[in-house]
Amino acid sequence: MAVIDTKVSDESLVAVTLAFVKAHFLLVAFSAVIVRALYRRYVSPIRDIPGPWLASCSRLWKVWSTYNGHTELDHIALHKKYGPIVRTAPSEVSFGSPNAAKDIFAVGKGFHKTKFYSVFPPKHAPDIFTEVRESKHAQMKRYAVTPYSLAQMQKRSEPIEGMIKLLMEHLEKYAATDSKRLCNLGNLLHYFAFDVLGEVAFSRRFGFLEAEEDVEGSIKNIDDVQWYDGIVGHIPEFDVFLRNNPLRPYLPFWKPQPTTMTKIAIQELEKRKQPDGTYDSSGIDLLAELLRAHEANPEKFGVNDVFSIAHGAVFAGSDSTASTMQSFFYLLLNSPHAYAILQREIDEAQKAGQLSPIVTYAEAQKLEYFQACLKEAMRLRPAVGLGIYRRVPPEGAEIDGRFYPGGVEVAVNGWVLHRNRAVFGDDIDTYRPERWFERDAKLMASHMYQFGGGSHLCIGRNLALFEMNKVLIQILREYDITLAHPGRPLQYHSTFFVVQEGLEVYLRKRVA
Ligand code: HEM
Repeated sequence: MAVIDTKVSDESLVAVTLAFVKAHFLLVAFSAVIVRALYRRYVSPIRDIPGPWLASCSRLWKVWSTYNGHTELDHIALHKKYGPIVRTAPSEVSFGSPNAAKDIFAVGKGFHKTKFYSVFPPKHAPDIFTEVRESKHAQMKRYAVTPYSLAQMQKRSEPIEGMIKLLMEHLEKYAATDSKRLCNLGNLLHYFAFDVLGEVAFSRRFGFLEAEEDVEGSIKNIDDVQWYDGIVGHIPEFDVFLRNNPLRPYLPFWKPQPTTMTKIAIQELEKRKQPDGTYDSSGIDLLAELLRAHEANPEKFGVNDVFSIAHGAVFAGSDSTASTMQSFFYLLLNSPHAYAILQREIDEAQKAGQLSPIVTYAEAQKLEYFQACLKEAMRLRPAVGLGIYRRVPPEGAEIDGRFYPGGVEVAVNGWVLHRNRAVFGDDIDTYRPERWFERDAKLMASHMYQFGGGSHLCIGRNLALFEMNKVLIQILREYDITLAHPGRPLQYHSTFFVVQEGLEVYLRKRVA
């Protein structure tokens, strides 16, 4: 009987295979990519979910969409074409229905942040926004809730009002002359939002408004960082070859450079360091309050946490608030009917002595039409343009009546959710504050996601609402505003936040 030498035949098989790969390397590599793509497309528990073909077999679709700067429009178009459930990556599903959003954001259901967020800086000291370990996130958030509360924001009224007065002084320059002087209201609001954060986080004026410019290109710098985050967040394993490449510190032409805002946050923490190694925690700013929380709980809440939270506030809170205020004016000024009603409401409150020299938060709450205008702006143009990403817990979970296995990534986009006809009405693409009086306002409010939802609901919303309620009414009360280019759309792109340009107006002082 013949004895087959299996060792020899195995070796020759390996040798033949290697020789083939060597001879046809490109063909083999190309075939491997195709086979992998087809495998991801067809051997998947979500293979039946409709969506773009490219998205079903590669993450390229979402990388490309973010690179192009209009993921929010792509998501609206996808849901229009394919319905409420769309496959946006081999292992990602985007949901457009309000019920799905409720399931995904339900607290305690185990939908945690995906690795998308881990790319956002600072890499080695994740903050509340970027921390993807849920237990660490919950611990940080526990200590930050009080410093971020509305009551604490009220205590910071004085520095915030100081910034409002400074903004009004700058606007006055544009209103003072007889000849029409073009005012880039969008930019001034952007500078204002940054400067408010300087005051609130560090009791420091960044100086954007004073200079009326993007000092040291900081805003552009943050925009570029966010653009990278938004794109590479979809392929986080590539981060280690790019921004977080371990070789970078050794390469003079590619050395990591901290942003101006990061340098400022480091300086501010250093300033408060005492000779004995402790920190001066007196004061009312966010940094001081976080340092007090650290003093009370040094084991659980370290100085690194303090730094990353204060630093993260500037990144998370400036473009978002600026974008919301720009959308508010853009939509209102393009809707003369709503603008006239709002001016009347403010004038009547003024005549009745219901407005302080700088409008208080409580006074603003009583202006019902104003509140409707603001909500309607946040509905139509929420400040986050990308999806909000979560992962299905390991044991799997039901979303809007269908079971999804653990590990599937899910996305919801405010621009899609806020256009649900059953909740918001048929004229979803129209700016119409009246809907907040005509329809079930409570129901609509419960389906608004401009501040996210669940355990990751925006912690800075109190600050954002506090400053917007005060400053928007203040501007409307003092000036008649006309668009320099009526009907011209704002230029914008979505990196993570919707960054906008081109809100140019003329101002005329109003007579009381
Ligand atoms: C109108 C202004 C704002 C809007 C529209 C907004 C929107 C959002 C959204 C949608 C999220 C959830 C993101 C996600 O889960 O992926 C979020 C989270 C967050 N926001 Fe805001 N934000 C605003 C202002 C601010 C401000 C002023 C600050 C800080 C001073 C801030 C700090 C944060 C932080 C730290 C988180 C992470 C919360 C968590 O994961 O627990 N935001 N924001």
